[in-house]
Amino acid sequence: MDKLRITGGRPLQGTVRISGAKNAALPVMAATLLAPGVHRLRNVPRLRDTRTFARVLELLGAKVEFEGNLLTIDTQGVNSVEAPYELVKTMRASIYVLGPLLARFGEARVSLPGGCAWGPRPVNLHLTGLQAMGAALEIEHGYIVGRGVKLKGATIGFDVVSVGATAQLMMAAVLAEGTTVLENVALEPDITVLGEVLVACGARIDGLGSRRLSIQGVRSLRPIDTAIIPDRIEAATFAAAAAMTGGKIRLEGVAPDHFEAPLRKLEEAGCTLLREAGAVTVSGPGRPRAVNVVTQPFPGFPTDMQAQMIAVCALADGTSVIEDTIYVDRFTHVPELARMGARIELKGNVAVVKGVERLSGAQVMATDLRASASLVLAALAAEGESLIDRIYHLDRGYETLETKFAALGARIERVS
Ligand code: EPU
Repeated sequence: MDKLRITGGRPLQGTVRISGAKNAALPVMAATLLAPGVHRLRNVPRLRDTRTFARVLELLGAKVEFEGNLLTIDTQGVNSVEAPYELVKTMRASIYVLGPLLARFGEARVSLPGGCAWGPRPVNLHLTGLQAMGAALEIEHGYIVGRGVKLKGATIGFDVVSVGATAQLMMAAVLAEGTTVLENVALEPDITVLGEVLVACGARIDGLGSRRLSIQGVRSLRPIDTAIIPDRIEAATFAAAAAMTGGKIRLEGVAPDHFEAPLRKLEEAGCTLLREAGAVTVSGPGRPRAVNVVTQPFPGFPTDMQAQMIAVCALADGTSVIEDTIYVDRFTHVPELARMGARIELKGNVAVVKGVERLSGAQVMATDLRASASLVLAALAAEGESLIDRIYHLDRGYETLETKFAALGARIERVS
């Protein structure tokens, strides 16, 4: 199993080009099922998750080709409606095919995702929303099954803001009969952009960028031709690396307003920022200051940066309090960071981080994607050598991470 060997302690300097966003690419890949034809998606990150999603589409009968970061998907020959357990269990986002399959074929058989490394991640909002639109769904042998479904417009209010359920129901509604109103929708850029992509293909969606969407179903859509937006979490992770190593990193190809909340927190922690169109330069302080963070749906501080921010605070001058309100159990990085000398006390969904002057390199284990990123950051700043095991988690969501860090001066290598 691959590991990362990192010798820390160098300020990272230079320019990094940020890749396309995984969480924007996945729903757009699912949306290709809505229109038969050849779809072209540019700036798609080459990651384990985008490859897994491509495999799901292939099993449904699509032809999928990756050339560099251009992904061509031909959905003309889609002839199956089954997303099998073997793939869904490795990537929960596979459930995104459910709405498009029901909308286009009136049928679907999609494995129900199970729990995840950091606790339950329900999909009840996806299912009740589709049921409100007239889909009689059954759970059979671990699969969500819909047959003979004719989706109809409905008014659906989400009681929690959900990225996945918003994308799912938006995709279902664009081909449903009549008008669907979605209330309390997610505003994450990945979702707003999905709506814009669908509109460019002929969908009728009012209210994009607000908490209330009104979607008038149309009979058919044109194939997608779009470029995936830059990955705000990857960008913020590199910004955190500048903060922790006292370095200076220019993030290129970014949309700064997509990660304003983490940027503001890093400023509060003592970073100096230069914002330009499509780029941000982050200069880290000698030592970060302690900050308090509460994760919130966009435009708040993202849960996907909570682990990396704990790593920053582990080195800060003072005590930081970090609360995750989105995923209350997402703290598997805490005991691993402790092996590197971090002083973190966990009280339910609140981490109290007493900053130390130095972290020390250690052998640690990656447990999920963002937890892994926090360990890489800690190792880059720590004294001595770290060995991070199970880095396949990182490969799910960061494109060529070690190459990018090495180009910034990090001593980092992948070992088997
Ligand atoms: N929720 C429900 N019921 C549902 C769906 C969600 O109660 O049916 C709850 C969740 O338990 C959670 C909250 O709603 O407390 C928000 O979950 P959401 O549905 O927004 O999460 P998701 O769509 O499953 C996406 C990202 C995650 C990211 C979250 C939150 C993708 C493929 N995944 O997940 O990304 O953490 O939104 O922003 O877009 C990652 O990239 O590392 C990652 C986990």
